[in-house]
Amino acid sequence: MEFGFSEEQLMIQDVARRIAQEKIAPSAEHHDRTGEFPLENIRVLGENGLMGIEVPEAYGGAGMDPVAYVLAMVEIAAGDAAHSTIMSVNNSLFCNGILTHGSEEQKQTYVRAIAEGAEIGAFALTEPQSGSDATAMRCRAVRQDDGSYVINGKKSWITSGPVAKYIVLFAMTDPDKGARGITAFLVDATREGFGRGKTEPKLGIRASATCEIEFNDYVARPEDVLGQEGEGFKIAMGVLDAGRIGIASQAVGIGRAAYEATLSYVKERKAFGQPIGTFQMTQAKIADMKCKLDASLLLTLRAAWLKGQGKKFSAEAAIAKLTASEAAMWIAHQAVQIHAGMGYSKEMPIERYFRDAKITEIYEGTSEIQRLVIARSETGLR
Ligand code: CAA
Ligand code: FAD
Repeated sequence: MEFGFSEEQLMIQDVARRIAQEKIAPSAEHHDRTGEFPLENIRVLGENGLMGIEVPEAYGGAGMDPVAYVLAMVEIAAGDAAHSTIMSVNNSLFCNGILTHGSEEQKQTYVRAIAEGAEIGAFALTEPQSGSDATAMRCRAVRQDDGSYVINGKKSWITSGPVAKYIVLFAMTDPDKGARGITAFLVDATREGFGRGKTEPKLGIRASATCEIEFNDYVARPEDVLGQEGEGFKIAMGVLDAGRIGIASQAVGIGRAAYEATLSYVKERKAFGQPIGTFQMTQAKIADMKCKLDASLLLTLRAAWLKGQGKKFSAEAAIAKLTASEAAMWIAHQAVQIHAGMGYSKEMPIERYFRDAKITEIYEGTSEIQRLVIARSETGLR
């Protein structure tokens, strides 16, 4: 067992912390209130290697390992959750899938632009009628005689959909084959046949832009297929395994921000002539917050370490995501309770942490879906 971090890992953590404290946290309230997409900050993250942390330097990334990714994501999420959502999609869902399954040309074209922060990426699996039950998708890609595909259909809740140039899309190429009839495509949003719906108004992570996207006779060339025809669902599931490490890290970051604010508050705020942190009921909350936070971080690091070692990490990523997201929600809830009136006020960031934490229990697989993945792995039953 080794609980220390390498110099490289600490360096990227430090870079992320500095950017989070100097650029991201100070504008978090503005971005939350206005819902403005933080393009300028995203460019800064890209220039500092944070949009392609695990992407080799040859493709414009930082060439680091999954543990470094966790450390950096935690810092950015502690600064502002919405920024970390955009960062997580670019890193885990977009770059990771192309690095694993893409051709050399696809890596050069798509990964470089996103890893350097010059463009924004997206990942389109969910549809209006199919979220958890992802194989029930209806978006259809029909193969033509020349090897190209004509794509028609809708995808909903697409993070960075309003601003993305490149999108990893999953569409049904052979409906009779179910999960084995799904194919992954690389879509260029500037091409004909691609459309975007209105930006969704949301409870939290409000500066992370989300919308429906639409395909009307969009033509994908043979070289736009990612992996092989029919491999799309496995690609999506593998990418989501890694993505869940990112969302677990995001949850740790949100939980840490709520915890640290609370730790200061209980020493300053007085009631009945003494700091509220002296009351045993408050102390129990502080202890439980800290335990849940540390457990979440350690489980997330375990999943990342396994991934970095090339070992299986699917169930461990689900365990980390489930534990960290429920911990973040619980910690943010206690933070509001301890801040009481001030926790409910928009003058402090506590109510934002509470709203932001909730999404980590929903996207990249709800808590129920994480439990399903873990229980299937443990029991071997379906
Ligand atoms: N890795 C590789 N392959 C996998 C896999 C994995 N982790 N999990 C399943 N598969 C394979 C199976 O082996 C199977 O292959 P075969 O047909 O060759 O046997 C195939 O995929 C189908 O598997 P299942 O029968 O287990 O599929 P299922 O229909 O029961 O669904 C599920 C399983 C876990 C519920 C899955 O549908 C799921 O994860 N749903 C949640 C969807 C989700 O997370 N969406 C996130 C969208 S992106 C997002 O949300 C981004 C964001 O917020 C920022
Ligand atoms: P449903 O699948 O309809 O689930 C409804 C309820 O039923 C949930 O509580 C669920 O847990 C439960 N349920 C479903 N099946 C089971 C089961 N077998 N056992 C027990 N309970 C079950 N998707 C993308 O593809 N790309 C993105 O970039 C993206 N970004 C998102 C951003 C935001 C802000 C949001 C809100 C969503 C985003 N999503 C994205 C979609 C997200 O992944 C889905 O919302 C999520 O997977 C759940 O799907 P659903 O909303 O359709 O809920």
